[in-house]
Amino acid sequence: MSTEYALQDSWHRARRRMDCMEATYDPGTIRHLTALGVGPGMRCLEVGAGGGSIARWLADRVGPGGEVAAVDIDVRFLSDLPPPVSVHECDVRVDPLPGDGFDLVHVRFLLAHLAERDEVLDRFVAALRPGGWLLVEECDSVSTAAMVPGTPHETMMRHAERVLRQLIDVDMGRALPGMLTSRGLDGIGVDCHVPFAEGGGPEAEWMLLTVGQLHEATGGLADEETFARWEAALREPRTWVPGGAIVSAWGRRAG
Ligand SMILES: C[S@@+](CC[C@H](N)C(=O)[O-])C[C@H]1O[C@@H](n2cnc3c(N)ncnc32)[C@H](O)[C@@H]1O
Repeated sequence: MSTEYALQDSWHRARRRMDCMEATYDPGTIRHLTALGVGPGMRCLEVGAGGGSIARWLADRVGPGGEVAAVDIDVRFLSDLPPPVSVHECDVRVDPLPGDGFDLVHVRFLLAHLAERDEVLDRFVAALRPGGWLLVEECDSVSTAAMVPGTPHETMMRHAERVLRQLIDVDMGRALPGMLTSRGLDGIGVDCHVPFAEGGGPEAEWMLLTVGQLHEATGGLADEETFARWEAALREPRTWVPGGAIVSAWGRRAG
């Protein structure tokens, strides 16, 4: 089983899943980008741009004098982005990045999928101008500890995590500080955030769609009764469950 097979963007509900992921994680990403001083005239590289929400935010922030290069192996959701965004279909494992000397390189939820993550991260650092910022954000299974044992949510998320472990590095987030430090970056900072989801909201829907896609792709993560009880819990307003943790790590290229 490969990641491309299990979580592909060609899935019929992939666009909605992307929208819900953006609704869950964009506020934190935007907080970090704002704190790093992203502003008018800056040149930015958005890698694994996905549904395009962060590329769109960057475009608004850098303005007409800036640049936003949005890169993805699958650009199907990036057709309606405003200037100064340019869209590049690119496999970051093998294709050249669209330029260098960037003031900012941002990547979210991509490296954990890639066996070549060390080489790819080297290339992101090399694409920065001296003093330019790298912001890398990846998942971490630390949030499993916040789940109440024996609940439908905990049961289902453990099934999902077991399968996800075969596809991606679900503990990638905690490796980021070391990865940035070993590349000689300055001004390193790290944050870990666990979003809580209310039943019926976009964060809960993101989990329903992601785990639902895996459930479909694997022929069943759990028996249908377990899946149905979990689904009902995540559609119930006033029910709160922990979602997937995100670790955000940033640093500046020395020079
Ligand atoms: C989980 S999605 C995250 C999307 C977006 N970064 C976000 O957080 O909203 C991962 C994205 O990386 C893209 N991707 C996967 N492998 C890639 C590769 N080798 N090169 C470039 N993009 C890739 C996928 O097409 C997908 O859009």
